[in-house]
Order: sequence, then C-alpha cells, then structure tokens
Amino acid sequence: MRKTVSGVELMTLYQSLADRLQVLIRDQVYPVGSRLPGVRVLAEQQQVSVSTAVNACRELEQRGVLEARPRSGYYVRQPPVVREAPRVTTASRRPRRITGQERVLQILQSVNNPSVVNLGAAVPAPEYMPVATMERMFHSVLREERRRCVGYAFPPGAPELCTQVARRLAGLQCEVSPEDVLITNSCQESVAIALKLTTQPGDTVAIESPTYYGLLQVIDSLGLKALEIPTDPVEGISLEALTLALERWKVSACVVVSNFSNPLGVRLSDARKQALLALLSKHKVPLVEDDIYGDLPLSGPRPRPVKSWDKNGLVYYCSSSSKTLSAGLRVGWLVAPERHREKAQHLQFINTVSVATPSQLVLARYLERGHYDRFLRQLCAEHARGVVRMTERVTQLFPQQTRVSRPAGGFVLWVELPGEVDTTELMEKALEAGVSFAPGSLFSASGKFANCLRLNCAVKWDNRVEQALVTLSRLL
Ligand SMILES: Cc1ncc(COP(=O)(O)O)c(C=O)c1O
Repeated sequence: MRKTVSGVELMTLYQSLADRLQVLIRDQVYPVGSRLPGVRVLAEQQQVSVSTAVNACRELEQRGVLEARPRSGYYVRQPPVVREAPRVTTASRRPRRITGQERVLQILQSVNNPSVVNLGAAVPAPEYMPVATMERMFHSVLREERRRCVGYAFPPGAPELCTQVARRLAGLQCEVSPEDVLITNSCQESVAIALKLTTQPGDTVAIESPTYYGLLQVIDSLGLKALEIPTDPVEGISLEALTLALERWKVSACVVVSNFSNPLGVRLSDARKQALLALLSKHKVPLVEDDIYGDLPLSGPRPRPVKSWDKNGLVYYCSSSSKTLSAGLRVGWLVAPERHREKAQHLQFINTVSVATPSQLVLARYLERGHYDRFLRQLCAEHARGVVRMTERVTQLFPQQTRVSRPAGGFVLWVELPGEVDTTELMEKALEAGVSFAPGSLFSASGKFANCLRLNCAVKWDNRVEQALVTLSRLL
C-alpha cells in the first residue's frame, strides 16, 4: 500500500528499495538465476531494517522479478518478455538545415492543459519536485533579501549561486572557479550562448541522433546546419561515425548530452568521454556539453562530465535546475573557457539583461543548506521506479515487435514501434483522446524516427496514466 499525505502519494521505504534492487537486476549486477544476498545482509548493505528488506523482496516477488525458494533465499527470475533496444540509425549524408519542428510548442502547451495526461514533455510532475522546501526558501529569501530581490542581478549572476555551482562542479573533478560560472535563464540559453561563441551562421554542428528537439531549434534559429551522428542506445554517440564526419566536413562545434541523453538516456562511459575529447581536440572542434540530466542516474554514482578531463579549454559546460528542482525557476549555468568568459557574459546580458534575482537566490540557498543531495537520492529512486513501470506497461500493452530503450538515467523512455506507423499522425489522435507524447521525428533534423516516440516516466502514477497508456496502445 502507498501512504498518502494531504492527498499526495509517498513511496514507502520498501518500495523505494525494491526499485533500486530492480535497477541493479536490470543492470546485471544480479543477473538472471543469481541469488540475492540474504535479507539481513541486504538490510545492512542498504542501511534499512530487516523488515524493509523482507518487504522489498516480497514486492519484487509480486512484480515477477524474484522467486522465493524455500530455505534458500530469493533468486532473480527470467523476465517474461525482454524488448530489444531501438535500432541505431544510419548517418546523415551531409550537414542540413533543420525541418519539421513546428509541432513542438503544441506538445509543450498540452502540459498546461489539465485534461491532457502529459507523457510528452520531459517535465517531471510537481509531485517529484521539492515544492514545500522551495516555498520556504522563497519566503525566507523575499524576507531577508528584499532589496536585492527587486533589483537586477547582472551577469555573471548572483555571486553566491556562482560559488555553489563551482563547488558542485569541483565535486565532479572539474577545475572551475566561481568567476568561471555564468548564470543563465536555462540550459537552453547556455547552449545557445555556447553556440554563438563557437559558430557563425551557415556553419555546421555535429549532434547526436536522435537528439533533444530544443537543440535543433537553437541550431535552426542561429542559421546553422546540423550533421546527425548515429547514436547507439547503449554506448552513445558513434565515435567512428564522428571521426569520419570530422574528416569529411568542416564542423564548427559538437553538442553532446554526455550523461543520460535525451531521448535515449545513454551515459557515455568515462573511456568514451575521454576518447570524444581527444578526437575533438585533434580536430580543434569545441564541445558544447549539455549535462542537464547528470544528477539523475537510475543506479550508481553521479557520473563525471567530459568537462572534468578538459585541460585546454575545449568544453563549454551547460546545465540547469530544470530537471531536478524546478523548471519554473528558469535558472541555468554556462562554464565557458576563460578566453570567452566576458563575451559570454555580454551575450547573456543582451539576451535578457539579468536572470530573475529571487530565483537565483533561492537556488543558491537551497544548495547552500545541503538539501540537494538528500533530495536527489529520493528523486532518483522515484525515477527508477517510474522507468521500470513504464517499461513494463509498454511491454504489456504495445505491439509485440516494439523496441524499448533502457535508460541509465533521466526519466524518459524511447520507444520504436514496428511497421509503417507515423507517430506524428498518431499524436493528433492521441491529443484528441487526452494523451500527449513526443513523436519521434521531432528528435531529428531530417524527419528520421517517424515510427518512434518518447514517453515521460516522471508522471504521478494513477488510474489516469494507466488509462492513457491503454488509450495510446489502442491507437497503435
Ligand atoms: C537535453 C536537454 N537540454 C536542455 C533542456 C532545456 O532545459 P532548460 O529548461 O534548462 O532550458 C532540455 C529539456 O528538456 C533537455 O532535455
């Protein structure tokens, strides 16, 4: 049973442990047929009570993941159906202007329509956000800093926030000082500024394929061309294809979501991150690193960004608080190499003069007070649970040959449907039926992935969501 407080469902401790264990099982830490440690050992390892460990194992038994063998313990069962990962696409033949992005705003607008179940935009439901703590922080900031709150906080931004961002990056082995940090309105703005610093209209940018549609829009708005590099749903951007592309074309910048990309949820391994940096260094191509999902691993520690290996100022590091604490704060950050520090500040100033001062101060205070890491642990466990649940429902409801991604982090699922289906057409019908999803072609500069779709797993799981998935499956 789920506990509820003021009508909001809370996950119990044993469910959260069950989710963590399920991710470990999915990631082969405990492969099929292996025995889980005994409940006492498990309790000690996971720092929970023995009864929580017992309940977690029972929950996994119910979910069909574990099997109890009398006087022997819990064993990992063969999962009933394992969907294959989506296929890797072929490379673009040439750099090209972006097409087909007109529908994005329509999908995003549906997020604000209460009668539509949002499986489309990658926005966590408010139940996932620390709403009450944020409210307290806003109150205290408005009370204690009221004179600052009514004024601008010109670039580079509020000094206490620059310090907090630099400290977090230092914890990820990045050599970044507070002076290196520029506060922006969002990760999207950070990426746009980084591309303005590194390209001229008409230039070519190498990107992952599939990639986040907001990036495609930035590339388009700056008059740039995209060169789509095939991206493996497990390993990430193909370094072999990128090597060939760099030899063939003049590429001015490369944009990569290094940890838990959108939509595939891929984490580049440390070795591949270093190889990517070496390859780009060799060709003197700057890397715009979007690390917006880096704090959201579904299991294991927070991975390092490529920036942490950057000794020669090649990486433009971009992130924000949109996917973790609040998309509504509208606060992001950019760490540009020192030679571009001033120009980056100037570009941000031209864009919006200043980022909202109260938002900056609230975020700085939230990080300063040490709330963030504790919150992230709960959040990642929730996302692990949501991804497992969405995968299960898609596997049960969607056609048999459907392929499903296995994200290592973040909270979206990439689904490849069999046959000739066009998910852009499907979306119109789905929206009429009160369900949104993101059609696959939005994730390509050239209309690839028409038979794919992306689902947001950070939803408040209730009957409406269950019903929405049934509705969607009937439209397929
Ligand atoms: C990879 C990626 N980068 C950037 C963004 C935009 O984030 P922000 O709200 O900080 O602009 C998103 C949002 O979906 C995203 O998925």
